[in-house]
Amino acid sequence: MDAHTKRNLWMRKILFFLLLALICILLAYTAYQQNKAWVVPEEAKSRTNPVPRSETALQAAGVLYRNDCAQCHGEHGKGDGPEARTHSPLPADLTDARRMSTVTDGEIFYQISEGKRPMPAFKNRMTEDQRWQLVLLVRSFARSPAPEREPVKTLPLQPDAVKNPAHSSSN
Ligand code: HEC
Repeated sequence: MDAHTKRNLWMRKILFFLLLALICILLAYTAYQQNKAWVVPEEAKSRTNPVPRSETALQAAGVLYRNDCAQCHGEHGKGDGPEARTHSPLPADLTDARRMSTVTDGEIFYQISEGKRPMPAFKNRMTEDQRWQLVLLVRSFARSPAPEREPVKTLPLQPDAVKNPAHSSSN
């Protein structure tokens, strides 16, 4: 082997390891991106929905949803669409009232607009109004038909004191 061939071989080895390192970095980066919490900027969170809730808006959103969201999030937002299982992380369950009560309308709008792998971004595919309509629809998924909670029954701390204030004032 002359010096030239030796150097060539050496270069190839280096290239091979560089490539391997690059693949590892890419894999680690993808995993990191997928596990990263979905960070929404504060100014996006505080935006309010300019589209009023109406039957028309919900119907329009329903059409968009069936075309662009249901394959992952499922017909009723449970995260059980036919494509759902092929994705990691799994599509979010939009009917989870407890979880959804922690996010603002602005946050949902941002998430629909920007997407996050594997969820695509919709800001170039839909108008702002369409995305806000979808926010209304997403909100309707987590709304349970039954009242959220029992009316709060407050008991007076000192029933006697309330009925007969004069009585309790004597020490
Ligand atoms: C390719 C599958 C896919 C499609 C299509 C998709 N999503 Fe998602 N969506 C996801 C995944 C996966 C997540 C969870 C991402 C994460 O938490 O890292 C998610 C998260 C969300 C969230 C955030 C919920 C939360 O608080 O965690 C909302 C809101 C949402 N999607 C709405 C929509 C709407 C509306 C559409 C249609 C316009 C849509 N998605 C289309 C896969 C998808």
